[in-house]
Amino acid sequence: MSDQEKEEIIRTAIRAFPDFPSPGICFRDITPVLKDPLAFCSVIDLFEKHLRANFPKIDVIAGLDSRGFLFGPSLAQRFNIGFLLIRKKGKLPGPTESVSYSLEYGKAELEMQYDAVEPGQKVVLIDDLLATGGTMNAACELVKRRNAEILDCLVVIELKSLKGAQKIKPYTVHSLLQYD
Ligand code: PRP
Ligand code: ADE
Repeated sequence: MSDQEKEEIIRTAIRAFPDFPSPGICFRDITPVLKDPLAFCSVIDLFEKHLRANFPKIDVIAGLDSRGFLFGPSLAQRFNIGFLLIRKKGKLPGPTESVSYSLEYGKAELEMQYDAVEPGQKVVLIDDLLATGGTMNAACELVKRRNAEILDCLVVIELKSLKGAQKIKPYTVHSLLQYD
């Protein structure tokens, strides 16, 4: 199957819910992608292909709470590498580093365990969606504080009009689907 066909399978699976969770937000729901093995496999295939074409060595995939956790472990398996969790505040035991950030619809704080990543390790971050970029930017900040190297940020969906890619510069984002 071609990459275009895989993209189309994913695009068809994603649903839009106007005014959720608050008026004016068009919520892009990835849950049907998880229900459909072909759509899910297409997501992992396309991310794998992109990474193999661009990064000869990756040490770890870092997933963002919570929907990054749905895709990250399967992708990490393809490379036989580990997966680490960047979580909302108060969920991780032991010493952690935290960063606060703003969302399209609220405020939150992200945390990572100190020993989750070693200085110099090559890290790819993953989430389901990039909106304002606040969440991904905070996650990059956590990884950067550990002096690890951020190779790329992967998302299934990028909401272009919110300019999240600008916010996470100098880091790069690779999205499978783009919406306004
Ligand atoms: C959503 C989404 C991203 C983030 C994107 O997560 O899964 O993580 O918002 O928005 P941003 O680019 O404006 O920061 P949310 O915080 O709703 O949490 P959830 O995954 O636990 O539902
Ligand atoms: N996270 C932030 N904005 C979102 C949106 N519009 N749809 C789904 N998840 C989101």
